[in-house]
Amino acid sequence: MKINNRITLFFVLGSLLLSNNVYSKNWLSAPKNTDFYDNGMPDEKKVKLGEFLFFDKILSGNQNISCASCHHTLTDTGDGLSLPVGEGGQGLGVTRNTGTFNHAIHSRVPRNAPPVFNLGARQFTRMFYDGRVEANPEHPSGFISPAGDDLPGGLDNVLAAQAMFPVTSAEEMAGQTGENQQADAAAAGDLPAVWEHIASKLRNIPEYVELFKTAYPLEIFQASDISYVHAANAIAAFEAKAWRFDNSPFHRFLRGERHAMSRSAKFGMRLFYSKKKLHCARCHSGAFQTDHDFHAIAMPQIGPGKGDNLDGFSDGHDDFGRATITGNTEDRFSFRTPTLSNIALTAPYGHDGAYNTLEAVVKHHLDPDISLQNYDQSQVVLPSRPDLDAVDFTVMNDPQRIQPIAEANELATIRLNNLQFRSLIDFLHALTDPAAMDIRKNTPSRVPSDLPVYD
Ligand code: HEC
Ligand code: HEC
Repeated sequence: MKINNRITLFFVLGSLLLSNNVYSKNWLSAPKNTDFYDNGMPDEKKVKLGEFLFFDKILSGNQNISCASCHHTLTDTGDGLSLPVGEGGQGLGVTRNTGTFNHAIHSRVPRNAPPVFNLGARQFTRMFYDGRVEANPEHPSGFISPAGDDLPGGLDNVLAAQAMFPVTSAEEMAGQTGENQQADAAAAGDLPAVWEHIASKLRNIPEYVELFKTAYPLEIFQASDISYVHAANAIAAFEAKAWRFDNSPFHRFLRGERHAMSRSAKFGMRLFYSKKKLHCARCHSGAFQTDHDFHAIAMPQIGPGKGDNLDGFSDGHDDFGRATITGNTEDRFSFRTPTLSNIALTAPYGHDGAYNTLEAVVKHHLDPDISLQNYDQSQVVLPSRPDLDAVDFTVMNDPQRIQPIAEANELATIRLNNLQFRSLIDFLHALTDPAAMDIRKNTPSRVPSDLPVYD
């Protein structure tokens, strides 16, 4: 009996890992230190500085929001909302409100604040749902980005390049024209002035000057040597270190611990990676479950939109995703395949947080058309304010605007029985690294500006 079991297990493992016909062409191997920047060991002093900066509202124009407001340690590096409440809002996570009086937010941020797990792995060369920041050695700065030639050199990696941008967005961190210098520079499209303004704020805080000098002993000798690029590199080092989670039961299984996952999760894994059945790995490939490519899967469109307009519309409530970056109509409604690291922890799901449960977003994949047409609007997690609520479902209430989203869909309809569905969900839960279930230790108790860390 024992021997039989072993033989079965051997066969299952063998066919899972070896057979090219049945499983995705992407070789599945467990992540190693060398798969991450700095071989997984970024400089501790840079990491410490980056942690402070990530939680410090000094980076924002009105000194009222930090990176962590939308990527918090209490909400698994997201914010628990469908769409973030940017600068002007108050509170954290699902209790964050839309702000009061003239500080109130002007609009919701149009896309979901994604988790920041494992982005220090070198394979993540494209940032954002539409990939608008991307590593590209042919570009002088090393990156394609909305800043074009204004993006300075010296950025360590694409994660650092990403950190250049939230501070330039009016809704996210800069603020509205007339409110502060950072907002004015951002509104004028003068990104170098935004970065210089933040650097000047940091230079004026002696504790930061010391931290920068210690983190960059060969580059920074005095306050005037500090640039926002140094800050972005430190933030990236922190993100890469603090939010690396590659010890999930699934990763342990890949490292040879056969009993790390339950039987049901293993069955779910086979469905997920098998070409014969679900083949989720057609897009969610590899050990972090992403091909880093763009696909249209008919995700319901909620919120204010990205300013895109289908023919005959002009309110900007559509979001064309990748098409806005490439200019190709065929890329409309395509979004980058997200990693599924710690996916059970990071609801709501999708580029606009349209689905609030893992079950719902997985069911959407099995029959996108029906799921889109019957979308349940009550599941969104958004603080209510009448003028904001008024636009949230403009697209979803208009069959003419839903249709192009449905037509762009690449997914086939799949039928799963109950057992298969439960196993698939069990597998997705096996992507949770237990260490990610409580990441409060990555919250500094104070920051050098002495602005509040918690709202
Ligand atoms: C107001 C909320 C908000 C704030 C503040 C904010 N972000 Fe984000 N972040 C988002 C949203 C929304 C996206 C996705 C936008 C998109 O894809 O178009 C995002 C995307 C990202 C990504 C890319 C993730 C991926 O998988 O592509 C990283 C990394 C990130 N943010 C880090 C930061 C850092 C660092 C800061 C501070 C400098 C910051 N964020 C500030 C909301 C926020
Ligand atoms: C054709 C490519 C493709 C296939 C096949 C695919 N997905 Fe996805 N998946 C995506 C894309 C793209 C998104 C993000 C879409 C968006 O945000 O609009 C996504 C989102 C998700 C999410 C939400 C992630 C998040 O962070 O919000 C989950 C969970 C998920 N997929 C699971 C699965 C499962 C399980 C399967 C197999 C049944 C599967 N996917 C098959 C492309 C695919």
